Amino acid sequence: MSTFPERRLRRTRRTPAMRRLSTEHHLVAAQLVLPVFVKEGIDEALPIASMPGVMQHPIEAIASVVTDAADAGVGGIMLFGVPAVRDAEGSGAVADDGILNRAIRAARDAAQGRITVQADLCLDEFTDHGHCGLLAADGSVDNDATLEVYARMALAQARAGAEVLGLSGMMDGQVAVIRAALDGAGHTDVALLAYSAKYASAYYGPFRDAVESTLQGDRRTYQLDPANGREGVAEAMQDIAEGADYVMVKPAGPYLDVLVRVADAATVPVWAYQVSGEYAMIELAARAGAIDRERTIAESLVGIRRAGADVILTYWAREVAEWIRAGKDFA
Ligand code: PBG
Repeated sequence: MSTFPERRLRRTRRTPAMRRLSTEHHLVAAQLVLPVFVKEGIDEALPIASMPGVMQHPIEAIASVVTDAADAGVGGIMLFGVPAVRDAEGSGAVADDGILNRAIRAARDAAQGRITVQADLCLDEFTDHGHCGLLAADGSVDNDATLEVYARMALAQARAGAEVLGLSGMMDGQVAVIRAALDGAGHTDVALLAYSAKYASAYYGPFRDAVESTLQGDRRTYQLDPANGREGVAEAMQDIAEGADYVMVKPAGPYLDVLVRVADAATVPVWAYQVSGEYAMIELAARAGAIDRERTIAESLVGIRRAGADVILTYWAREVAEWIRAGKDFA
């Protein structure tokens, strides 16, 4: 008499072909988005020390970055600007000839509808103090004054041809104010990705190098406390009510519980951002010989998908899209 239960669970894991039959979640290239850094005033790509393999690109290179990503089947590129000059109001963000708005135009021309063009909508790369909004006299971040600049930044990005705006500033009311400004100017087709559950995270460290952030201090008065899960769900619900087309959880890997809860509650597609620190940890551990690079990348991404993300922003988007094309299989 057998002491095992009737159904043997290992039966379906016996061979790669049997395992493929039972795979619940797949990575899909069209649902990967590649973040791209564009730096003003350089004429060749510069490596980012804390993100091995990621570069700051000159504006002239944007067309080929876009074409390469589109050829690999990547679903979108998310553009971040690194301006040569910053000021207290973040003027470079709203100027039509600001680096990010120029990059959007170059990307839109190269994309030819094959890949979606997305832009970060936040002031931190453009302000000399490095905060995501304007500062009040007492040094605090002024929510409502910032919204007015975000609305102008959104219009500049829409004029340049962005199809999805990534609202990453964590000001209250930003989705409603930007939606109204766009609709009022006839940009009703521009979609809004709300970085809803965006945590005040140490995992953004390498990104601050990538955009040469000048921030002193932290963003805890507007980004979420890492200890709070329920609040991430509340942010997503409020952004949906304000008109967000997509909501995001960020970082991804350390916040998979929040991702599950947002994915359960959301009535719009859910995105997750595998951030710079998540990228750097795997790259550096692999370089040190501690882990298998490709398997760890694949596992980190499928975990994000399993938790409920439809779309994933990842610095590996192009490479992983190429693996998918080549039929690479980690089973
Ligand atoms: C804000 C923004 C940040 C990231 C994306 N958008 C930085 C921050 O909030 O401090 C971080 C992305 C990453 O770490 O990969 N514009």
